[in-house]
Amino acid sequence: MKLLMRIMWWACLAALLAACQEDAKLPEKSVFTEDELIIDPGPLKIGFAMDTLKEERWLKDRELFEQAIESRGLEVEIAAANGDDALQIAQAEKMIQEGIDLLVIVPHNAEATAAIVHKAHGAGIKVIAYDRLVKNAEIDLYVSFDNEKVGELQAEEMLELVPEGNYVYIGGAPTDNNAHLLKKGVFDVLQPAIERGDIHIIYDEWTEDWAPEQAFIHMSQALEINGNQIDAVIAANDATAGGTVVALAQKGLAGSVPVAGQDAELAAIQRIVDGTQSMTVYKPIQQLSERVAALAVELAQGNAIEPTASINNGKSEVPSVLLEPIAVDIGNLESTVFADNFHSAQEIDGME
Ligand code: BGC
Repeated sequence: MKLLMRIMWWACLAALLAACQEDAKLPEKSVFTEDELIIDPGPLKIGFAMDTLKEERWLKDRELFEQAIESRGLEVEIAAANGDDALQIAQAEKMIQEGIDLLVIVPHNAEATAAIVHKAHGAGIKVIAYDRLVKNAEIDLYVSFDNEKVGELQAEEMLELVPEGNYVYIGGAPTDNNAHLLKKGVFDVLQPAIERGDIHIIYDEWTEDWAPEQAFIHMSQALEINGNQIDAVIAANDATAGGTVVALAQKGLAGSVPVAGQDAELAAIQRIVDGTQSMTVYKPIQQLSERVAALAVELAQGNAIEPTASINNGKSEVPSVLLEPIAVDIGNLESTVFADNFHSAQEIDGME
């Protein structure tokens, strides 16, 4: 409805301007009444349909995206679905019915969310996939960090620390496309060392919904099966790294087995300072939220955008923008997460 009003508004203005140009003055009697000319549809409204607020990063995403949209004079409606596919679809449908101008979505389930894209497109609303790709639907834009690169950074740093030995891979949620990209990045880097026989993947599991409790169970199993003979762990994010470190701690191994994570969560930075996690991958959320907000405005106004990549999602080549992730360990905490105020050193025990 709002979209219709917006189109009518622009049509009125365009017709009026055309009339002015023809006669070089206002027509004696405008074809529009005064009331019709002042139908102002109000600011553009962006819907932000999030999967979850469980991990610390999503709270930052919510806050920074809201600020980025509002600072551009637009409105934003935000909902989070608690990892529930049906709820996420219902929340997005409600936004569509209420007349958002564009939908930004962080899909819980890469495949299930295609239904929302079809609904939005049916209502003439464009869709941006935020951080996670929607599969098998013609989404208009995908903006994320380079997730394969995240995995590569993890594996490169771990190979330097542990060039030979037994590796455990604790993956992310199989329903999240990012989990697959991360894993590809990790294994692309590890493959030559695996082929040389330098490293052995002795355990490799997905983690349903990225749950730390499940990561804990996986890591406990890995330790059990291999008689604690584990030299390195790559976990798909800091939440799963957290579960892993608890399992290692139960065997007195926290701090002696290097662990990699991703997200630069506060708890992970604390573990890096404590020596129980070796590295994380920092993704400046500010850059992501700003970029999506700027592109959302362009798309909602029907302007062309300049993607930096194109990614096949099973249905189409999706115009994409991929930002650079940054490997973080004890050596560059200051110049990365602290310098950017992502966290402050005061929040960390053992730092001044
Ligand atoms: C994100 C990670 C996050 C994970 C769990 C992934 O799609 O890229 O940053 O830790 O989801 O929410």
